[in-house]
Amino acid sequence: MVDEVGNQPQYEAFADEFLDHARDGLFNAHYDRPACMALLGDVADVTVLDAACGPGLYAHELSRRGARVIGFDQSPRMVELARQRVPEGDFRVHDLCHSLEWLEDRSVDRVLFALAVEYVDDRIAALRELRRVLRPDGALVLSRLHPTGDWIRHGGNYFEPRVIEETWSRGWRVRYWLTSLEQTCEELHQAGFLIERLLEPRPTAAAAAISREQHDRLHREPTGFLAIRAVPDPRTGA
Ligand SMILES: C[S@@+](CC[C@H](N)C(=O)[O-])C[C@H]1O[C@@H](n2cnc3c(N)ncnc32)[C@H](O)[C@@H]1O
Repeated sequence: MVDEVGNQPQYEAFADEFLDHARDGLFNAHYDRPACMALLGDVADVTVLDAACGPGLYAHELSRRGARVIGFDQSPRMVELARQRVPEGDFRVHDLCHSLEWLEDRSVDRVLFALAVEYVDDRIAALRELRRVLRPDGALVLSRLHPTGDWIRHGGNYFEPRVIEETWSRGWRVRYWLTSLEQTCEELHQAGFLIERLLEPRPTAAAAAISREQHDRLHREPTGFLAIRAVPDPRTGA
């Protein structure tokens, strides 16, 4: 196994299915999105960069709450879906392995980076770019698979970053990085962020109506996602 995810847009093949799954599904609508939206705080009249925006589900909610949304994704189909969902947003196809040269330094108030850091090979470089475009009083909100859940599913050396391939229940084949919690914290530190809050979210009460079993399990076990709010470290230059 080569320890690289590469820059093939994996979600392109199932972008429409992802939209169908994530719009109202338990893991996205009743678990990840409420946690990240809470960490983002009041977004009225602020500019939010939705990095790896997918089909625009977050962008839609952000716009509904009064934010100006700029978004990008590696998958052209995802960008098309985001444009359809949020016509007032500004979306483009962009891979996080490249610098965001189309965005000025210190030009956005918040960056949202939900459920995508796992697919990036050079995460420190990508996070540095996100820090560069953030205003000094801005914040990054990032969510990722919970490393404990990853380790329970895949075993091996928890502390050793590695790329794995998995086939999810809908038949989606994905390749992504397994990394420890320490590694994520270290990458944020090296990119010039200070962690302000870390949530191990629990699903909302509404999730129980979708699956009582998953709702109860995620209230007991750290096997789903986690979410972090980090701010630019004023001691490091951007
Ligand atoms: C699990 S989806 C999350 C989508 C969205 N953030 C959400 O939570 O609804 C992961 C997204 O990351 C995008 N992605 C993966 N690697 C990327 C990269 N290197 N640059 C930009 N987007 C990427 C995929 O195309 C996909 O849309």
